[in-house]
Amino acid sequence: MPRETKRILMTGAAGQIGSELAQALRKKHGRDNVLVTDLVRPPAALAEAGPFELLDITDRSALDGLIAKFGVDTVYHLAALLSATGEKNPQKAWDVNMNGLYNVLETSRARGLARVFSPSSIAVFGPATPRENTPQDTILDPRTMYGVTKVAGELLCDYYVRKYGLDVRGCRYPGIISHMTLPGGGTTDYAVAIYYEAVKRGRYICFLREDTRLPMMYIPDCLKCTLDLMEADFGRLNHHANFNVTAMSFTAGEIAAEIRKHIPSFECRYEPDSRQAIADSWPASIDDSTARAEWDWKPDYDLAAMTVDMLAALKKRQAAGTLGP
Ligand code: NAD
Ligand code: SER
Repeated sequence: MPRETKRILMTGAAGQIGSELAQALRKKHGRDNVLVTDLVRPPAALAEAGPFELLDITDRSALDGLIAKFGVDTVYHLAALLSATGEKNPQKAWDVNMNGLYNVLETSRARGLARVFSPSSIAVFGPATPRENTPQDTILDPRTMYGVTKVAGELLCDYYVRKYGLDVRGCRYPGIISHMTLPGGGTTDYAVAIYYEAVKRGRYICFLREDTRLPMMYIPDCLKCTLDLMEADFGRLNHHANFNVTAMSFTAGEIAAEIRKHIPSFECRYEPDSRQAIADSWPASIDDSTARAEWDWKPDYDLAAMTVDMLAALKKRQAAGTLGP
């Protein structure tokens, strides 16, 4: 049985999701119980508000040292290279994503940790996967190195569950939209940038076609999803590290139209680049009924509610002078 007070180590904590998940975990478990780590230093609000260490996840002995020193029982493994960055340097994407995950799983196994979280992605799917309402258990034929590492990662996590009884959990996040930390080089990043540019300049040039439909989720739902999955009763889980989850699906044209309801003069042009091929290989919508059945997953935000919240948050940052040029 895991003890009540958790001692958590997070990798990739300076990133889009990690920076907010770390704050949520510190609120839930106490700031001194959450050690945030990353290759780079996160903003002071995170690095100085509790324990922080620089960590390259490909360095297993450094990871092992921190886990031992901090008395860690739970790891949230967020460090990765995402789809677009991964296509620029597939060798590095394999190294960070696969060896990083292997180091986390091996160290967790060897030190008898209670639980590990390792997110997967809609990037596990590919052109042969059913595009609409993509089922939980279906064809996985990714065309990006990022997707290849996520499929292999899901399999590796399941191996550790079966072979060693290590409690590893994860979900296939769709595109995550947030207003605190910019995303780090994915194909769904346009759905964050469009809000920033709407507030800053009133116009945006989108790198995907207007009719490109992808599954998405607002950050409060992403945090809820992660925390709920990690709290779920293990006995109810038939899946472990590969849960389909989603909150909404929209096209680039539909998000622009939603923004225009609040900023009528907002202009969006579409100039697709190499990321279009990646988007075209991914699902348009996701069936997450397995997550709903096994651990009661249910999102709160749709496109309309997210847009109200995103624009208000970004305007507040603009007024405070923290939105950048
Ligand atoms: P991000 O790119 O914003 O952050 C990743 C972090 O990992 C960065 O802070 C980076 O410095 C760090 N990192 C990179 N190489 C490292 C290394 N060698 N050692 C230690 N840290 C290293 O990514 P994110 O959006 O926060 O994604 C977090 C996780 O969620 C990833 O596993 C990603 O695949 C998954 N995911 C994200 C999305 C999304 O839309 N954001 C969607 C699906 C899945
Ligand atoms: N948002 C991620 C990306 O675009 C999906 O995993 O790479």
